[in-house]
Amino acid sequence: MGTGNWAFAAGQPSWFNLHMTLQIVPVSPVLGAEVIGADLTSLSDTGFARISAALTDHQVLFFRDQDELPADVQVAFAERFGPLHVHPAAPTLDSNPAVFVIHAHKESKVANGNGWHTDVSCDLEPPLATMLQIHQLPDTGGDTLFASMFVAFETLSAPMQSFLTTLSASHESEHIYRGRYADRGVDDQHQSYPRADHPVVRTHPESGRQALYVNPSFTTRINELTPAESQALLQFLFRHQQRAEFQVRFNWTRNAIALWDNRATQHFALWDYWPAERKGHRVTIKGERPFFKPGPLPRIRMRLGGRL
Ligand code: SIN
Repeated sequence: MGTGNWAFAAGQPSWFNLHMTLQIVPVSPVLGAEVIGADLTSLSDTGFARISAALTDHQVLFFRDQDELPADVQVAFAERFGPLHVHPAAPTLDSNPAVFVIHAHKESKVANGNGWHTDVSCDLEPPLATMLQIHQLPDTGGDTLFASMFVAFETLSAPMQSFLTTLSASHESEHIYRGRYADRGVDDQHQSYPRADHPVVRTHPESGRQALYVNPSFTTRINELTPAESQALLQFLFRHQQRAEFQVRFNWTRNAIALWDNRATQHFALWDYWPAERKGHRVTIKGERPFFKPGPLPRIRMRLGGRL
């Protein structure tokens, strides 16, 4: 574990780091927490249980004090959450198809994640969580925004919440993935890309909280509505869920790790650094089929200003 970003640990004797307890420090009242003092290469079961519970509570976790993890070590840590998910389109490591290589540079035509989305929501069983370590960064830029879909749902009126719980949506990927990674050697001529129907509101299996589960990258229509109604409602929901109040912005440092819960969040990787280079390894953990379990509607948790 590196100590470079940790002013108070620098120069301390090694027993200091060995005996330091893992800390979880929220970075916003809505979502996100920084995990300090976790050595992901040798985390105890107790330490892992705390991280797993913190992920449920905070929806996205940030680990700054890390060394570059070898791919097999990153994979082994992610596997503690469950079996891994293999991306249907992306370039992966030859040695391990579960490791998606994130890479944007001067010649790139696209940068991954450069739009609001929940990872691979077009899959019947979309990934539960994603773990990304960035190894190479531009001098400035390349931040990732995360937004809480719990709070996006909880800030809607009760009649709107109630209506949304009766709906399902189509999530498609052909329009996103076809040819997307051709310049990185992915030949998808014989590949078909997934689509799935999911509830518009999904229940988190661990916390029971309800999350808004549509996103502007993959969600193409609300199944029960006319095309015009579907378009109008999706436009409203996309605007609503992108409110700044629901977001946290992660300013990466080298070898930092973000671990996010795809059942509760959306994210947007900014590509504001072209022509500079940004590179890292992403591993996703297999999830279950999204479901909606009826329960009491959440009360509004935040006072929102503005005219939205
Ligand atoms: C992604 O959407 O997985 C990419 C996130 C990032 O590169 O920050």
